[in-house]
Amino acid sequence: MTSHDVTLERTDGPNRTIEVTDDETVLEAAGRAGVRLPYDCRKGTCITCVGRLIEIEGADTDVDADADGAARTADPADAFTYRRSPAALTDRERADGYVLLCIAQPRVDCRLEVGPRVRSEVGDSPWA
Ligand code: FES
Repeated sequence: MTSHDVTLERTDGPNRTIEVTDDETVLEAAGRAGVRLPYDCRKGTCITCVGRLIEIEGADTDVDADADGAARTADPADAFTYRRSPAALTDRERADGYVLLCIAQPRVDCRLEVGPRVRSEVGDSPWA
């Protein structure tokens, strides 16, 4: 079984790197590792669990850049597959690196920012 190292970074706390297997989401792997992340619906509709992709490990350039269209060489869509459509995020939010961790399965080693600061950057869900 393939797995990927995902580093969870918080502005106010220690970073943790967890191993996420192919068949689990970041939220499930965090729970298995004893790392607490916020969540509510676990269905990709409420945005409570949102994180933001900071870097794809091994990519030439990180994706920490823009909220306003600066060039990216690493596409966040390459880093994750979703169990179901992340309908609570707009296309722009997805392009800016926001990820719903309750339904996202990583396909690369990567770094994610998690926590309330990330949640405050994203608009409210139209479905919650
Ligand atoms: S917990 Fe609701 S969108 Fe992830």
